[in-house]
Amino acid sequence: MAAVIDGKAISAKVKSEVRQETEALKAKGISIGLAVVIVGDNPASRVYVNNKKKACAEVGFESFEYALPEETTQEELLALVDKLNKDDTVNGILVQLPLPKQIDEKAVINAILPEKDVDAFHPVNVGKIMIGDFAFLPCTPAGVMELIASTGVEISGKECVVIGRSNIVGKPMGMLLLHKNGTVTICHSKTKNLAEVCRRADILVAAVGRANFVTPDMVKEGAVVIDVGMNRLENGKLCGDVDYAACFEKAGYITPVPGGVGPMTIAMLMKNTLTSAKIKNGIAL
Ligand code: GUN
Repeated sequence: MAAVIDGKAISAKVKSEVRQETEALKAKGISIGLAVVIVGDNPASRVYVNNKKKACAEVGFESFEYALPEETTQEELLALVDKLNKDDTVNGILVQLPLPKQIDEKAVINAILPEKDVDAFHPVNVGKIMIGDFAFLPCTPAGVMELIASTGVEISGKECVVIGRSNIVGKPMGMLLLHKNGTVTICHSKTKNLAEVCRRADILVAAVGRANFVTPDMVKEGAVVIDVGMNRLENGKLCGDVDYAACFEKAGYITPVPGGVGPMTIAMLMKNTLTSAKIKNGIAL
């Protein structure tokens, strides 16, 4: 039977540490601001953005919300990014993805100054993650690393299998596990014998975007199972990529959805924004 990894509690601890450091900076006259940009009215994005603003208030950051209409042009969005790049009160810029189809996401990500790119999506920051020389954490994978650390399970030398190869989660997840000396396999839609590969995993991270995709035949007895999925079912219920009820008996540790990876992503975003402010003010990390 699995032990449940409590992402809510672990994220609260991370945010409380960020809050303490933020208060110490405030005492030195340094305040921290995060700009959150949302274009259009994707309901999931709205929820994420509200949660990010709420987290800013919890840790003592200022948050500046820019809610732009669905028909915003790329030029208009790039003009806003340029303004935020130049704004001294803004330490971090987060443009919520996905963007409407008339806007090229790559062009927008590339326009954010790397030192304000608290999502760590800019190619400069992605490259730094690749070589292991990074200040900004890729938020979701970094949150997963904290959850794994909380179990006390050592990563070094272990079989780590990531399902999904997105730029936001799968690829950077593989890199962070590799930096900790895991033996990493990244699986995707063309992977042969997926269940067999997953069953090798001491640490299994599911980031596929398909409800209940991971079934017990894919889980090794006692494995750490981390569920990055956030799938909305027809009945409105939120559901992960892992069939939680079915895998619970077999896993050693498992994350719930909600209350697992989700809150960690936001906590790590707060940590990155703090890091940006520290770097700007010449404070040791
Ligand atoms: N959309 C889904 N996840 C994320 C994220 O971590 N950052 C941004 N900017 N957009 C997202």
